Amino acid sequence: MSDAPHAVVTGGAGFVGSHLVDSLLDDGFRVTSLDNFGSGRPSNLEHIDTSRFDSLEHDVREPFPELDGVDYVYHFASRASPTDFESHPVEIALTNSEGAHNALEFARENDARTVLASTSEVYGDPEVHPQHEEYNGNVNVRGPRAPYDESKRFSEALAVAFQQQYDVDIRTVRIFNTYGPRMRPDDGRVIPNFLSQALRDDDLTIYGDGTQTRSFCYVSDLVAGIRAFADADPAVAAGEVINLGNTHEIEIRELAEIVIEVLDADSDTVRRELPEDDPELRRPDIGRAQELLGWEPTVGLEEGLERTAEQFAEELGTE
Ligand SMILES: NC(=O)c1ccc[n+]([C@@H]2O[C@H](COP(=O)([O-])OP(=O)(O)OC[C@H]3O[C@@H](n4cnc5c(N)ncnc54)[C@H](O)[C@@H]3O)[C@@H](O)[C@H]2O)c1
Repeated sequence: MSDAPHAVVTGGAGFVGSHLVDSLLDDGFRVTSLDNFGSGRPSNLEHIDTSRFDSLEHDVREPFPELDGVDYVYHFASRASPTDFESHPVEIALTNSEGAHNALEFARENDARTVLASTSEVYGDPEVHPQHEEYNGNVNVRGPRAPYDESKRFSEALAVAFQQQYDVDIRTVRIFNTYGPRMRPDDGRVIPNFLSQALRDDDLTIYGDGTQTRSFCYVSDLVAGIRAFADADPAVAAGEVINLGNTHEIEIRELAEIVIEVLDADSDTVRRELPEDDPELRRPDIGRAQELLGWEPTVGLEEGLERTAEQFAEELGTE
């Protein structure tokens, strides 16, 4: 067994998880991915060619397997697409409650530094803009997004409890909309939707009037922030929570125009009814991450869309 530090990534076969795995392997870590391949794909990991990597099929709702010498736990397992909130609500709620509990117990047993993936969804439909970490959010506890939003909120509360009671070093990242290659074209989130439609010259579906805003972070920027936070001195980072995301805020109808332009697509836009509890505004306040880590995103939206579209075109056979 190598002397390299050992990181366990739950959700390692997913979009963000697989990029995190790549980044850790590039830096010499030994990495074990635990994933049930629900929304993740083995193909996201098939390029990896090192004995420092192991991929185990495991559902985090079950107690974790015994693994040797674990130094870091990155808990990223959870479906994250709004279409999955409708089709898999119980699975999602339990993944972020029972699953988070199992992950934190595993971290405690291994005395491993832990990064918990939370989400901007903990702010719900925010009344404070931009959203900073001290804002407690506005989540509809009985709405269609509640199984995800409330279970993520619970996982954060559990992390605080573990930190307090067992002194486990847990760092929480609230991730704002992130996109990039390895998202599934049929994932249901807005950038995969728009790119898949534009690559086929279909019309882009806008929910509501398209004036709702989002801020989109390219995945390499997100992963750089996660890694910097994980590596930060415990004196400043243990038990902390930070927002990670891009502060460039745009309306969804503007995003549609940019996608059509970047892909030079022969598409128009069509309107559909706005789903219940769709947040009106989303932009992170990243002041804390900037101060703690000196981190900020560097990849512009057009560039990120082009890189993502390349992979989608290959996968959809529209090249
Ligand atoms: N991408 C974003 O914009 C975004 C925003 C906020 C938060 N997040 C968080 O980041 C993490 C990764 O999201 P993503 O965008 O990569 O989504 P994804 O669906 O691509 O990845 C999630 C991974 O977790 C796995 N998984 C789900 N439930 C599991 C379970 N019970 N046991 C084991 N594995 C399970 C899936 O198979 C998949 O590989 C999630 O925790 C998500 O909530 C992502």
